[in-house]
Amino acid sequence: MKPDISVTFTGLRFTNPFLLSSAPPTESDSNIMRAFEAGWGGVVTKTIGLHPVTNVAGPKTKFLRSTLDGQLSMQKRPETALHSSWNWELISDKALDWWIPKIEGIKKAFPDRMLIASIMAGSGSDKELAHWQDLAKACQDAGADAFELNLSCPHMDRKDMGSNIGKDQQQVSIVTEVVKEVAKVPVWAKLTPSTTEIVEEARAAFNGGADAIVSSNTFPSLPLIDPETLDFEMNVDGLVSSGGLGGPAILPQSLAKMSQMTTALPDRSFSGIGGISTFAHALNYFLLGCGTVQVCTAAMLDRAIGPNVIKALVDGMEQFMEKRGYASLEDFRGMRRGNVVVHSRIRRPEGKDYHGGFDAEGYAR
Ligand SMILES: Cc1cc2nc3c(=O)[nH]c(=O)nc-3n(C[C@H](O)[C@H](O)[C@H](O)COP(=O)(O)O)c2cc1C
Repeated sequence: MKPDISVTFTGLRFTNPFLLSSAPPTESDSNIMRAFEAGWGGVVTKTIGLHPVTNVAGPKTKFLRSTLDGQLSMQKRPETALHSSWNWELISDKALDWWIPKIEGIKKAFPDRMLIASIMAGSGSDKELAHWQDLAKACQDAGADAFELNLSCPHMDRKDMGSNIGKDQQQVSIVTEVVKEVAKVPVWAKLTPSTTEIVEEARAAFNGGADAIVSSNTFPSLPLIDPETLDFEMNVDGLVSSGGLGGPAILPQSLAKMSQMTTALPDRSFSGIGGISTFAHALNYFLLGCGTVQVCTAAMLDRAIGPNVIKALVDGMEQFMEKRGYASLEDFRGMRRGNVVVHSRIRRPEGKDYHGGFDAEGYAR
């Protein structure tokens, strides 16, 4: 008999703890249905807003790849490995009215799969805050099982939206509270990694009533400059603006943010994102205390919704649990959380073994 890899997260039952994150793989009902057919335990919709959205001219996402000798470029070359994704895509360019019947249709076709609606509005006035409630009410009436508040989109000029409010503890609390006032389903807050003390924003979201924290969104970054043309590898009319880095490059950074939060708030629920394409990657987040994980870049590169990725994640988890005799994720969730400590707690070598920071030979050894 196969091990039971289902999980209960914020009161919702997932057939497995692997979700597609809010991004191009979840931008349409046809993609989302294909994702459920492929076996994803849950899906977070591409972020839905009320403001009209027009994306930049030209590509919205590209992939940075490395050769064996470390040359990094977005240009296609033989014998490369994926380093990261870079995007400056805005939230869904489809209106709420487009999404509502789609959410209804998806839930009708897959009633027992978890569909989380990612939503985003401004927060600069009561009218803007009411938009959060309008979005929430419409999505839950259509059948959404939970909300993910996008407090983390890295490319917003507006000061009262996306990662700009995700850095502001007061705004994080206010927005969460406003949505909780109308929500009949769990509310997750997706925070930005672009902050020095993410634990404070997590605390603020929980104080506002959040049921879980989701992290990370993409990290602020620029595409590289081509040494031949001296142009950014991604640009429009030579111009670029800060975009978001995802994929393998952000796995260790995202883990660091996650570990700060799960250590400070061990009894709370967390969904981990960043750089996951295999079960070994996902396991890091589970061992640090996450109850679910989410995937974007790896799925984009695997037939748009990741049929092979989800198969490998499920097989990997089943094999891991079988080999170690675990009955559920709870048997190993958080097992390495306590191993992340302050630097001064790390053991130093004993007296005679220590060659000192100024001992050149010590360095050379
Ligand atoms: C092209 C693209 C569009 C994205 N759009 C959204 C979005 O609308 N809302 C959101 O919360 N996150 C968005 N994200 C962030 C992803 O959901 C995810 O947090 C991030 O890519 C890190 O995961 P990964 O390393 O698996 O790619 C987007 C990412 C990419 C690459």
